[in-house]
Amino acid sequence: MDSHVLFNHNSHRFLRNFLLMLLFVSLCRYTSTTVVESCVEEERQALLSFKEDLIDRSGRLSSWTGQQCCLWRGISCNNRTGHVVKLDLRNPYPYIGGVDDEWNSVEYQKSSLGGKLINPSLQGLKHLSYLDLSLNNFQEIRILNFIGGLKNLRYLNLSSLRYGSFVEEIPSSLGNLSNLNYLDLYNNYFPPSKNLNWLSHLSSLKHLNLGLLNLSSIGVSWLHAINKLPSLLELHLSSCSIDGNQLPLSLPTNNFTSLLVLDLSHNHINSSFPKWMFNLTSLTKLDLGWNLFLHRSLDEFVRLKSLEHLDLWRIGLKGQLLPKFFGNLCKLKSLDLSDNEIDGGIQDFLSGFSNCSSNRMESLDLSSCGMEGELPSSLGMLKSLQHLELSSNSFRGSIRESIISNLSSSLKTLHLGGNLFNGSIPESVGQLSQLVSLDLSDNSWEGSLTEAHFINLTSLKNIVLSTNRPVPIIFNLTDYEWIPPFKLQSLSMDNCRVGPGFPVWLQS
Ligand SMILES: *[C@@H]1O[C@H](CO)[C@@H](O)[C@H](O)[C@H]1NC(C)=O
Ligand SMILES: *[C@@H]1O[C@H](CO)[C@@H](O)[C@H](O)[C@H]1NC(C)=O
Ligand SMILES: *[C@@H]1O[C@H](CO)[C@@H](O)[C@H](O)[C@H]1NC(C)=O
Ligand SMILES: *[C@@H]1O[C@H](CO)[C@@H](O)[C@H](O)[C@H]1NC(C)=O
Ligand SMILES: *[C@@H]1O[C@H](CO)[C@@H](O)[C@H](O)[C@H]1NC(C)=O
Ligand SMILES: *[C@@H]1O[C@H](CO)[C@@H](O)[C@H](O)[C@H]1NC(C)=O
Ligand SMILES: *[C@@H]1O[C@H](CO)[C@@H](O)[C@H](O)[C@H]1NC(C)=O
Ligand SMILES: *[C@@H]1O[C@H](CO)[C@@H](O)[C@H](O)[C@H]1NC(C)=O
Ligand SMILES: *[C@@H]1O[C@H](CO)[C@@H](O)[C@H](O)[C@H]1NC(C)=O
Repeated sequence: MDSHVLFNHNSHRFLRNFLLMLLFVSLCRYTSTTVVESCVEEERQALLSFKEDLIDRSGRLSSWTGQQCCLWRGISCNNRTGHVVKLDLRNPYPYIGGVDDEWNSVEYQKSSLGGKLINPSLQGLKHLSYLDLSLNNFQEIRILNFIGGLKNLRYLNLSSLRYGSFVEEIPSSLGNLSNLNYLDLYNNYFPPSKNLNWLSHLSSLKHLNLGLLNLSSIGVSWLHAINKLPSLLELHLSSCSIDGNQLPLSLPTNNFTSLLVLDLSHNHINSSFPKWMFNLTSLTKLDLGWNLFLHRSLDEFVRLKSLEHLDLWRIGLKGQLLPKFFGNLCKLKSLDLSDNEIDGGIQDFLSGFSNCSSNRMESLDLSSCGMEGELPSSLGMLKSLQHLELSSNSFRGSIRESIISNLSSSLKTLHLGGNLFNGSIPESVGQLSQLVSLDLSDNSWEGSLTEAHFINLTSLKNIVLSTNRPVPIIFNLTDYEWIPPFKLQSLSMDNCRVGPGFPVWLQS
């Protein structure tokens, strides 16, 4: 009995020690594996061969020496196995254009990785699931074929891979990447595609960007390839030279009905709106801008009730917009109808929205739409508005103070240039403390601009006040020493009447 107890006691201790040891071992294992520093040696060699063929003027890969390859810049390893799973060599200075254009372009080119070729040694990274080589400048043309061998890839970003155009087509071996979720080949000017059949094998694809790939020679087969991708959520086909003959108006079945984003902008589509598009009822973003659709009516768009962003910029719309259209698209946050011919005034347009229990409109662009009439006070119901573009229409009359003061205090853009507004410029403009850009040019304003018009414009960066109308905008600042609350980046005031002396505030 005693010995039995002793035995029990001992076995209990043994068990406890054993468990403690197990815990210790697994803790050690855990702490040592969460900071894997050296990758698998063959993969380290593959990375070094890849680096050898690169021109790296800004020294982005200067950390790529020694054994601790999992700590090299742009590399991530699996903490357990030490295999390289992620290679992110995206240029940190994207070319964005705009005001800082020149500086940006110099930085961009300097930090581009270049060189004659992307060394196929990368195919040694068998466990790679993420590869981003975007915004660089690789010269060699047969660089992509081996990528089809990286079967574990889920994310592949080869957008803006070089400054010039490619000589060879996209290799069909990419069709072997059956785990791929993201494929971005934007802005590479590959030669016109002869077929996209490889694409239909990418059954896990969620996000596809083929922007600037010339699809003009493959008829409607691009759409049939894409129709085999049941998981697709985003499809970007901007500037793909797709014309009306290549866009079937109906499809027998529509596989990609989960689509959330469809971008067909900057193509040559000259047909009606395709019927299958209106079955994509999950769409939150649709961009058809810069095409020439033959439709005169937007009736069918009411089926796309999830839309938050709708861009119908310069698509040849003519005529009346039914209020019904807007009364059903209550989730819209941004709407661009600029550069079309739309009959009627903004009143008709807004009456549709009054049907929505709330509206979330943040950006409204109706510039160059041939619209006319006065601005109604109902404009103020767009409480979330940040960008209002009404330039180059025939809006007329005076603008009541209340219209501006009812507009959201979050307004950042107010562009009213090139209309027929008269009367005085409402002083309430001066209360838009978030306003960044103000364009009042080319109207027939009366009265003058005073300090009150600027009093709270602390965020203002750009003002356009120029005019070629007989009535110039008059600056009448009573305080010669006035210090404006803003720091401007651009100011355009040709033909304005400024007096009596040249304003001191220009210095600041
Ligand atoms: C791997 O380790 C790194 C560095 O310690 C850590 O940032 C990362 O979250 C870990 N990843 C996983 C999948 O555990
Ligand atoms: C690919 O990279 C570009 C720029 O480097 C980026 O703008 C784009 O969003 C990326 N694509 C995806 C699908 O993440
Ligand atoms: C997959 O890769 C093999 C060679 O590895 C190639 O022969 C085949 O054509 C590829 N398949 C596709 C669909 O690209
Ligand atoms: C697209 O390719 C076609 C013929 O393959 C060519 O005629 C056309 O100019 C190309 N379009 C662009 C924008 O390069
Ligand atoms: C729809 O997708 C399924 C599964 O990928 C495929 O078998 C079918 O052919 C597709 N339909 C069309 C019209 O492409
Ligand atoms: C589109 O939706 C309509 C009505 O819901 C349906 O009759 C039609 O078959 C659908 N078309 C496609 C291509 O899915
Ligand atoms: C649309 O453009 C294509 C290619 O330029 C042309 O063949 C076709 O006739 C045009 N269709 C219409 C309806 O204008
Ligand atoms: C108002 O909304 C209802 C329900 O969504 C819709 O049936 C109706 O067509 C809309 N009316 C207008 C004028 O937009
Ligand atoms: C503004 O123009 C309208 C005609 O569009 C005219 O009736 C009105 O009197 C003008 N208002 C002022 C203040 O000049």
